[in-house]
Amino acid sequence: MNIHSDKILILDFGSQLTQLIARRVRELGVYCELHPWDIDDATVRAFAPKGVILSGSPESVCAAGSPRVPQAVWELGVPVLGICYGMQVMAHHFGGVVEPHDQKEFGYAEITVHGDFHGSDGIGGTDTLRARGHSQLLRGIEDRVNEEGHGLLDVWMSHGDRVVKLPDGFKCIASTPDLPLAGMADETRRYYGLQFHAEVTHTRQGARIYSRFVHEICGCGEAWKPGSIIDDAIARVRAQVGDGHVLLGLSGGVDSSVVAALLHKAIGAQLTCVFVDHGLLRHQEGDQVMRIFADHLGVKVIRVNAEARFLAALKGVSDPEAKRKIIGKLFVEVFDEESAKIPNVQFLAQGTIYPDVIESAGSKTGKAHVIKSHHNVGGLPEHMKLKLVEPLRELFKDEVRKIGVELGLPHEMVYRHPFPGPGLGVRILGEVTKQAADTLRLADHIFIEELRRAGWYDKTSQAFAVFLPVKSVGVTGDGRRYEPVIALRAVETIDFMTAHWAHLPYELLDVCSRRIVNEISGVSRVVYDISGKPPATIEWE
Ligand code: XMP
Repeated sequence: MNIHSDKILILDFGSQLTQLIARRVRELGVYCELHPWDIDDATVRAFAPKGVILSGSPESVCAAGSPRVPQAVWELGVPVLGICYGMQVMAHHFGGVVEPHDQKEFGYAEITVHGDFHGSDGIGGTDTLRARGHSQLLRGIEDRVNEEGHGLLDVWMSHGDRVVKLPDGFKCIASTPDLPLAGMADETRRYYGLQFHAEVTHTRQGARIYSRFVHEICGCGEAWKPGSIIDDAIARVRAQVGDGHVLLGLSGGVDSSVVAALLHKAIGAQLTCVFVDHGLLRHQEGDQVMRIFADHLGVKVIRVNAEARFLAALKGVSDPEAKRKIIGKLFVEVFDEESAKIPNVQFLAQGTIYPDVIESAGSKTGKAHVIKSHHNVGGLPEHMKLKLVEPLRELFKDEVRKIGVELGLPHEMVYRHPFPGPGLGVRILGEVTKQAADTLRLADHIFIEELRRAGWYDKTSQAFAVFLPVKSVGVTGDGRRYEPVIALRAVETIDFMTAHWAHLPYELLDVCSRRIVNEISGVSRVVYDISGKPPATIEWE
């Protein structure tokens, strides 16, 4: 079975949660793509989905000029599921009434799933179920049952507008005391609407609801699996590259590492990786990259030790943005110089992943685009005229990680916290010196080692040490020290746009603090950063 044959189209109306819908569907083994709501009818038809999901939105259906569903969606004859705004826009399209409400509802709600009997699936057949009010979508899915035998679901709501009158042909399938129309269905056309967000984990039965929709109602198989994704990617790379030669900038990060492992499997010796070590990497990171790729997997990797060049370029520079620019520009320069030495290269591989593709596509009507500027190898000499190979373009980060593990990369590498392109360059406040980098590397290593030992590494999204060039007085034994400070930072976040500081146990912080001051000369004290984002950013610079 082709991994792309059964697919779901997700139309993005601008909710923060749309990518989460896509990830839920993919986790169910079904390929899906996310497109802006204003794609044209021809694209909808050409995609040929087995079902369509309409996302939520911060917009109001009641406002003039607000987003609508492409007409082709209603002409495909496939099931459609509208979530929140998606339900409202569906109701509006078919003649229902949507009204703004003065109170926004946000957070937990308990909804009642409609239908007056509770028992094994299928009793009485579809007609009986329909007569009794049960929907194909929610039938038998519940967290609890109330005294009258109705199923109850714990869900997560976030909306202002609400449907107050159903369109003809639709019935109510879920409600709360405050929201009588929390779900609707037209079983004949297989159109469904849910006012709550089934894609967030607070909606405990969310995965079952999406599974019911994509597997049972749309009839999609479960072809989208790591092993099959790898086989498909390998076949496509081989078809694209033929006997050509591919160049890859390996950074040690998750994406480029997975591309390296995948391309090595696909084309072996036709791949050459260039690994630019700018001297601002984590403890022994460069050696680790070489050990895994060159020694263990047998990938052709050229390691460029450019530490001295980067430190020279950064001498005397303390402004964070100036440091970023210098590191970024020099990185491209060094990469280009090395690449130019490799003969007969026709392709450049990149670790572009699906969120990058979605963010740079976006909707024509002004959705904010987040554009990554960092660390992309984009400045190859014009004369090289390389064609791009981007085998991860369809994958979310969690999928990249899964195939990384499947390809034999160490779990520790694949599930590593993100690390900024400019590396320790933005974690040494002010001027970057070799001494500061060496001190910070050791402090960071101790912190991460202790986090892992205590089982906290995977509970935090990003954790690291920061070098503060302010001197503070300390005392050890009989001696008085007057030396720099190390700050520790650990955050929990979903999207890195907002973050909470991690409430690490005092005992753990205590061990880190003692080890850092005792094992590293040149640190007088250790502090823990208790700032959230906002107002602070995750990095200190
Ligand atoms: P901030 O500090 O903006 O960080 O809250 C959000 C996320 O972005 C990472 N970050 C960077 N990544 N180049 C990168 O590749 C950069 O210049 C850069 N600055 C911040 C940061 O580590 C966090 O994950």
